[in-house]
Amino acid sequence: MKTVYVDGKFLPWDKAMIPVDDLAVLRGYAVCDIIRTIGGKPYCLDAHIDRLLSSATKIGLTPAWTKQEIKELVLKVIEKNTHMDEANIRILVTGGSSPDFFSPADNPRLIILATDIPALPAQWYTKGVKVITFFQQRVLPDAKATNYIPAVLALKKAKAQGAVEALYMTRDNMVLEGTTSNLFALVDGTLVTPENGVLKGITRKTVLALGEKLFPVSEQDLSLDTLLSASELFITGTNKGIVPVIQVNDHVIGTGLPGPGTRALIEAMKNQQGGTSNSSSVV
Ligand SMILES: Cc1ncc(COP(=O)(O)O)c(C=O)c1O
Repeated sequence: MKTVYVDGKFLPWDKAMIPVDDLAVLRGYAVCDIIRTIGGKPYCLDAHIDRLLSSATKIGLTPAWTKQEIKELVLKVIEKNTHMDEANIRILVTGGSSPDFFSPADNPRLIILATDIPALPAQWYTKGVKVITFFQQRVLPDAKATNYIPAVLALKKAKAQGAVEALYMTRDNMVLEGTTSNLFALVDGTLVTPENGVLKGITRKTVLALGEKLFPVSEQDLSLDTLLSASELFITGTNKGIVPVIQVNDHVIGTGLPGPGTRALIEAMKNQQGGTSNSSSVV
């Protein structure tokens, strides 16, 4: 049976609900994090919970749970969803019910769901993907808030153009990150990723650590011109792993094929995850 943890209880999926006066419903005031299991175990659990708690604090919520309590609840949710081999664990901290329907009243809710991990096409990894740019800057970029309205709009536009992701870009043409991914470029042999105005992805952190063994690495602002001049480009995320990017808008990157640096990093990540990488066909 699909079991959800919601506000202190483990409930069947169709019985799991929160009150309509929760600020997550009324004002879109909540934070979240998404983990994936590998071999049935949550991958980078500590890092994800640290980011969840930090996101909550950044939007002004005082989480009522310790890291250890959340960890134990996540493990229980995995244990109770025995029908799933691998899962995404989605954790939400909502603003809670509010007497004036606006101000947080120090009663956040915790929700933990186990959902299927989307299977992404194998050719994303073997042939690479197209992305588009989209003028947008996230509010409080280093907090993973549940407001993905710009992301939904940007991804719709991307899909209409045969692209799989949209890269947010400032009005002065600095490229930031994707709707649900971080961005890396190989520029003159250096692995570069935007430093400011982005969510510090957990996959981004892993890739930076693996990348340091292969290239000089630099966290820095990245202009669209520099991005387009890169020999290789890729995006990263919990479910995507490392996805080679071969086209940005109408511009072909490098040779138009996934490059050797990207392939080396995909391989390094696969090895680090014990061969069951989310950089393969099943992610
Ligand atoms: C805006 C944004 N940037 C980057 C990422 C990638 O983060 P992670 O590697 O932790 O999945 C995400 C993930 O959902 C995201 O929503």
